[in-house]
Amino acid sequence: MSKLQIIDLWVKVEDKLILKGVNLEMNTGEIHVIMGPNGTGKSTLASTIMGHYKYEVVQGQILLDGEDVLSMSVDERSRKGLFLAMQYPSEITGVTNSDFIKTAMETRLAEDEHISLFKFIRSLDKATKELKMNSDLPHRYVNVGFSGGEKKRNEILQMKMLQPKFAILDEIDSGLDVDALRIVGENVNNMKSDSFGALVITHYERLLDYIKPDYVHVLMGGKVVRTGKNELIEKIDREGYDWLKLELGLVDDAPVRASVSLGTCAINPSNKVK
Ligand SMILES: Nc1ncnc2c1ncn2[C@@H]1O[C@H](COP(=O)(O)OP(=O)(O)O)[C@@H](O)[C@H]1O
Ligand SMILES: [Mg+2]
Repeated sequence: MSKLQIIDLWVKVEDKLILKGVNLEMNTGEIHVIMGPNGTGKSTLASTIMGHYKYEVVQGQILLDGEDVLSMSVDERSRKGLFLAMQYPSEITGVTNSDFIKTAMETRLAEDEHISLFKFIRSLDKATKELKMNSDLPHRYVNVGFSGGEKKRNEILQMKMLQPKFAILDEIDSGLDVDALRIVGENVNNMKSDSFGALVITHYERLLDYIKPDYVHVLMGGKVVRTGKNELIEKIDREGYDWLKLELGLVDDAPVRASVSLGTCAINPSNKVK
């Protein structure tokens, strides 16, 4: 069993403080969900765990089995078993999907070890079929010309092949139709084991018809403000987040609009009625 700990994490993006003391702990064998209104820092948390250079950690720790993740390079984090399925997957012209995955897998091996081509192709075929992806997708350039849904499935294909300890899935549901959602959900559920856990970030509860979480955390105002189980998801689905904002005394981050009087517009020459 492995453990991922996020301890009092404060993160700045472009000089703006976004995460303000996130605490979260998870083990393999568990599926955790992070929900929260748009712009509250869900993707910021995902990018910070993976080590995106734009996200500056000002305080706190991320530990993977007690090891300091923040001092690791991105590829070290990947080799240690962290994986991020991105909200907006990138296209890589000139590199085929299968080369990309095979190279990523080989970096996990010792220098003199190689993956047998036969075994690799067999498991790539199997994973492609399980995700009901077109059989040509592994042989095309990474995400180039893929539909939104195909890109998302392709992230899951990489996850299945790389077999991380912890997969962070950032809005893997956006751009997926109901069938694709079910397929992705089932594939994530099926990976759950003593050596795999997932942190599923979602804006909607629809995905959770298919991925059964053990815990759900609500991220708001830069912190995890509530942790619960299915009943919390159901309440958010029914009532949104306003009740929680009220309970916590939080106001929206959006600045209250400066009062603009009608007179201001009326005297603007560009608003003159011609
Ligand atoms: N790379 C970035 N550059 C500038 N601002 C960013 C960047 N990433 C995130 N932000 C800002 O951080 C805040 C949180 O964004 P994000 O983490 O994407 O929220 P969520 O995923 O919860 O919708 C937003 O105000 C967003 O504009
Ligand atoms: Mg996001």
